[in-house]
Amino acid sequence: MTQPHQTLGEFIIEHQRAFKYSTGELSRLINSIRLAAKVVNHEVNKAGLVDILGQHGETNIQGEDQQKLDVYANKLFIETLINREIVCGIASEEEDSFITVQGHNKAHDNKYVVLMDPLDGSSNIDVNVSVGTIFSVYRRITPIGQPVEMKDFLQPGNQQVAAGYIIYGTSTMLVYTTGHGVNGFTLNPAIGTYYLSNPNLKFPETGQIYSINEGNYVHFPQGVKDYIKYCQEEKDNRPYTSRYIGSLVSDIHRNMIKGGIYIYPKSSKVANGKLRLLYECNPMAFIVEQAGGKASDGYRRILDIQPTELHQRVPFFCGSKTMVEKAEEFMK
Ligand code: AHG
Ligand code: MN
Ligand code: MN
Ligand code: MN
Repeated sequence: MTQPHQTLGEFIIEHQRAFKYSTGELSRLINSIRLAAKVVNHEVNKAGLVDILGQHGETNIQGEDQQKLDVYANKLFIETLINREIVCGIASEEEDSFITVQGHNKAHDNKYVVLMDPLDGSSNIDVNVSVGTIFSVYRRITPIGQPVEMKDFLQPGNQQVAAGYIIYGTSTMLVYTTGHGVNGFTLNPAIGTYYLSNPNLKFPETGQIYSINEGNYVHFPQGVKDYIKYCQEEKDNRPYTSRYIGSLVSDIHRNMIKGGIYIYPKSSKVANGKLRLLYECNPMAFIVEQAGGKASDGYRRILDIQPTELHQRVPFFCGSKTMVEKAEEFMK
C-alpha cells in the first residue's frame, strides 16, 4: 500500500470548495473538533501516568458514574467549540441541559449546533481498552441572532449535516461524514497530523461478527434471543464470531471494517436500551448509512425517529445491511 499523503486539513479545504455556497463554518467546526481530539488523545495516551484514571466522584444526569476523563473530555470539547465561536449551541451526554453559545459580540449568529458523547466507552479507560468520541452537527431551526432553543437539538437524525467519531485505539482515527460518503483519517502522533488513510469507507454488505452484551441474555426480548441462537447455529456461513468490546465506537468501527452487526436491545432491565439517540445512535447511524450499512431500533430507521428529549435512549441494531435486516425479521 502506498503511504497516504493527503492531510485532513488539505481534505477539508478541497471539499469545502466543492460546496459553492459554503461559508467555511462547517470546515472550521470540523477543524476545531480535530484539534480538541488531539488534546484528548494526548490525555488518553498518558492516562496511566497521571492522575486522570478512575472516577470523578459524581454522577451525570443519566445516573452514570462519571470518570475523570469523561469530565475532562467534555470540558475540553466544549471550551474549544465556544472559544472559536463557531456553534450557537452544544448538548452533551455529560451536561444536564444544552448550552447556549453567544459570540463575543453577544450576537448568537452562528448557524450550527453540536451534540456529543465526549468520551464513549469510559468504563474501559482504566483497563487500557479503546475509547472514543462521537459528534453530531445540525443546522439550527431558530432564526440566526436568537438564542438557541430545545427544538434546535431535538431534530431527527436525517437532518444531520455532519457526524463523526474519533477512536483512541491502537492508532487514533477520525472518521466522519458530511453526507457524501465516509472518510477515515489516522493521526501520525509524531507530527500531530491526520492523514487520509481510509477513503470512502464501505460497510460490507454482510459479515460474520455479532456484537451484543450476551450477559444480559435472560432480560432480552424473545426476538433478540432467537436471533442470537440463529447466529450460533451451524448452517451456511454460521456460527458467527462473537465480539463485544463495550465501547460503541470501537465495536462499530471494527464491524464497519470487517462486516458485522451490533445490537443494544431493550430488555426487562432497560426499557429503551442504554444508548442515547442524540449523542450515540443518530451520529453512528448517519455514518453507517453513508457507508452503505443500516441502523434501526429493530423496527424503524433510527434517523427518522423524532426525538422528544435530550437524553432519550433507544434500542440500537446497526451494521451490515443484510444482517440488520435478518435481525429485524426476528423482531417481528
Ligand atoms: P458511555 O461510556 O459514553 O457512557 O457509553 C457506554 C456505552 C457504549 O459505549 C457501550 O457500547 C455500552 O455503553 C456498553 O454497555 P454495557 O456495558 O451495558 O454492555
Ligand atoms: Mn457515560
Ligand atoms: Mn457512549
Ligand atoms: Mn460518554
